[in-house]
Amino acid sequence: MAPFSSFLKAFIAVSAVGVVVRQTGTFVPKAGYFPMTGDDTIAGGIFCISLLDLGTYLGRAGNPAGPTSEAPRGAGQATSGSGAYPATSFLNPDLPKHTIFAPKTPPPNTVSLPLITWGNGGCATDPTSFKNFLTEVASHGYIIAAVGRASGISQAQTTVENHRAGLDWGASGKAAKYGNVNAGAITAMGQSCGGLEAMSTAYHDERVKRIVMLNIAIFQDEKRYLLQEIKAPVGYFIGGKTDMGYPNAEKDYKLLTAGLPVYKANLDTGHAGTYSATNGGKFGKAVVNYLQWQWRGNATAKAILLDPQSPGSLVPDKWTVEYKNWV
Ligand SMILES: *[C@@H]1O[C@H](CO)[C@@H](O)[C@H](O)[C@H]1NC(C)=O
Repeated sequence: MAPFSSFLKAFIAVSAVGVVVRQTGTFVPKAGYFPMTGDDTIAGGIFCISLLDLGTYLGRAGNPAGPTSEAPRGAGQATSGSGAYPATSFLNPDLPKHTIFAPKTPPPNTVSLPLITWGNGGCATDPTSFKNFLTEVASHGYIIAAVGRASGISQAQTTVENHRAGLDWGASGKAAKYGNVNAGAITAMGQSCGGLEAMSTAYHDERVKRIVMLNIAIFQDEKRYLLQEIKAPVGYFIGGKTDMGYPNAEKDYKLLTAGLPVYKANLDTGHAGTYSATNGGKFGKAVVNYLQWQWRGNATAKAILLDPQSPGSLVPDKWTVEYKNWV
C-alpha cells in the first residue's frame, strides 16, 4: 500500500492544476473549479457578468468620469478600408446569425486570410456600429465572422455558441468564396461584453490562437483565477482611466499565466474607443498592426507596437504601451 503522504501529494497536485468539470446550472466561481466550456449561462459566457450586475461592478471599479482627449469628434466616413484589399460586409445564408466582413473580391490564392470571430459591445446583436473598424481590419486581408446582423437575430444578446458557429463555418471550407481562409490562424476579438465573450470563446477551445480584448477585462475578482486556463496570447486595447476596462485590464495583465505573451495599450478615449472614426481611427491602426505582426510576421507592424522610436509608433499617437514575454 502506498504511504499516506503520496496520496496527499497526489491530491495536492490535482488541486493545484484544478479540476475540469461538466458544468450544470449557473457557474459559481471557486478556485480550482474549471468548467469544460466557456459558455456559462449568461450572454458573453464564463468571463462575463449579467447586465443586472454591471452597475454593482462599475461602482466598485470607481472609474473617474471626465472628458477624454482622444475620443472621435464627429462621425467618421464609411470607406472600403485603407488596406490592400478593399472590403465590405456580406450576409451569408450559411451563417444566418452573422455579418461577414471580407475583401470585396477574393485576394489571390497565395494570400492566406486569418479568420476572426468578433463580438459587439453589450453582446449586441448588430455589428453596424463597428462597421468602420471591421471593414478596415478586413481590408488588410482578414475574414471576420461578426456575430449579429443589422436586422437582429431573434436573440436578446449574443453568446459563445454564436462565435463557435462562426469558427465551425470558417473551418468547414464554407468561407472559401471569400478567399484562401487560414483556419489555423484564428483570433477571438470583441469590444466590452463582446471582448469577454471572445475570451470565453477561447477558453478551452484550442482553435483560438489569439485573443484581442477591446476596452474590457474581467469584472469580478473571484473569476480571475480562470485566466490560468487562457493559453493564447492576449492583446488589450483600452481607453485609459475613464474606461470601465481600465482597472480590470491592469489586474488581468499581471495575472495571466507566467510566460504568456501579453500586450496592453491605452489611449485616452474612454470606453467607446475610436471605432466609429474613419477606418476605425487610432484603434483601427493599432489593432491592424497588432494583427499584421501576429499573423504575417510583419516586422514594421511589430515595431509600431513595440518600439517607441520606430516611424509610425503608437507612442506619438498618445498610446501608453506595456507588454511582456514577446520575442
Ligand atoms: C507591414 O506593415 C506596415 C505597417 O502597417 C505596412 O505599411 C506594410 O504594407 C506591411 N507589409 C506587408 C507586406 O503587408
